[in-house]
Amino acid sequence: MAAGAASLLPAGAVTSILQGCSAPVSEDGWNFDEVIDRSGTWSIKYGRAGENRFAMWIADMDFRTDPAVRKALQERLDRDVLGYTSTPEEFFEAVRAWEEKQHGWNVPLEWVGYAPGVISAINQAYLTFSRAGDKIIVQPPVYDHFRMYAERLGREVVDNPLIFENGKYRMDFDGLERLFDGRTKMLVLCNPHNPCGILWDKETLIRLAEICEKHGVIVISDEIHADLALYGKTHIPFCSVSDAAARVGLIFGGPTKAFNLAGLSGTAFCIIPDEEKREKYLGTLSAAKLDEPSIPTIVSTIAAYTSETGWLPALKKYLEGNVDCIMDFFRKNEVGIGPVRPEASFLVWLDCRNLGLSQDKLMELFRDKAGVYLNNGASYGTGGEGFVRINIGCPRSVLQAALESIKTAI
Ligand SMILES: Cc1ncc(COP(=O)(O)O)c(C=O)c1O
Repeated sequence: MAAGAASLLPAGAVTSILQGCSAPVSEDGWNFDEVIDRSGTWSIKYGRAGENRFAMWIADMDFRTDPAVRKALQERLDRDVLGYTSTPEEFFEAVRAWEEKQHGWNVPLEWVGYAPGVISAINQAYLTFSRAGDKIIVQPPVYDHFRMYAERLGREVVDNPLIFENGKYRMDFDGLERLFDGRTKMLVLCNPHNPCGILWDKETLIRLAEICEKHGVIVISDEIHADLALYGKTHIPFCSVSDAAARVGLIFGGPTKAFNLAGLSGTAFCIIPDEEKREKYLGTLSAAKLDEPSIPTIVSTIAAYTSETGWLPALKKYLEGNVDCIMDFFRKNEVGIGPVRPEASFLVWLDCRNLGLSQDKLMELFRDKAGVYLNNGASYGTGGEGFVRINIGCPRSVLQAALESIKTAI
């Protein structure tokens, strides 16, 4: 256990819960119930959580990737020589075909490019389309790295907080209109939205594009969670909604989240419809020599996007079961926590304001009393106080054990 932690869980408790949980293969032939030992793999999630805690924070899942991806990587390694490698046409074609198959969007091939990881790619967009001192708008509570790197690069980050009413989030367009000035150059859209799990609807995206175009502001759409739309709902790519969106938008996405490839670092693409913006952006990447994907990136992206194993639909079904599990748990156990039902991905935003604790005490409760390591809601900016984010991309038995531990601690 990490130094200083005063967990209610006796030493070895988490390990023994995990060991007792190997469940049979599910009906559709996939076994997401299997508990996989990630020790000794330099996992950030488990490293920081410490040995005797449930690690339910940083956004990777505890499942193996699609076997099609594993097979492709293994076959490439078996070819032995790992020399300098060009990006094959198949990479761009795989992304194009995936957008069509998965999101019903017919993207011209020339709009598609490589991106060196979504956050690195967004940072390069900051450098391409703004200068130090310029303003970048984010809509908190939102993925903290948008702000963190914009500030590191000397940009001023301006908040347009989301409105949370009756358990649902929406954008504040009136607030947005008031923010623009001559220094506002970009807005970062999280689509789907992490940490609140929102799939933005078409009307919202159309309106956002119109307003941003009117003010000469570029929209960066982070679509890394796009392939995990749940319950048969659809993700709508930002640039697909209108001509204005295609003119102002840059999309960054990749198989990282859906296929659980975060450790490969750099499995990403961009889609930039506007030729001038595309040329400028790709010019920045090439000047920084960030335009050459690694062999694992190329191989895994093509394999994920051309996979026919049925692994991704099965994963989504399993995640839906986990979402139902956490929703039911807090409905049956009224301990003062209200989960916001996510429409996409494996992150659940928990409203803990009814517990009446300061943010520090709240984090202590989860970390030290329940032995569950989560993300602090306050780190996502305005509107995050009183909330935490839990990662449910794990076997259901682990999720259930963590929820019981939270209940006991409260
Ligand atoms: C919304 C969002 N964007 C980007 C990332 C990270 O992307 P990458 O690892 O490609 O930089 C994450 C990871 O959690 C995320 O949630």
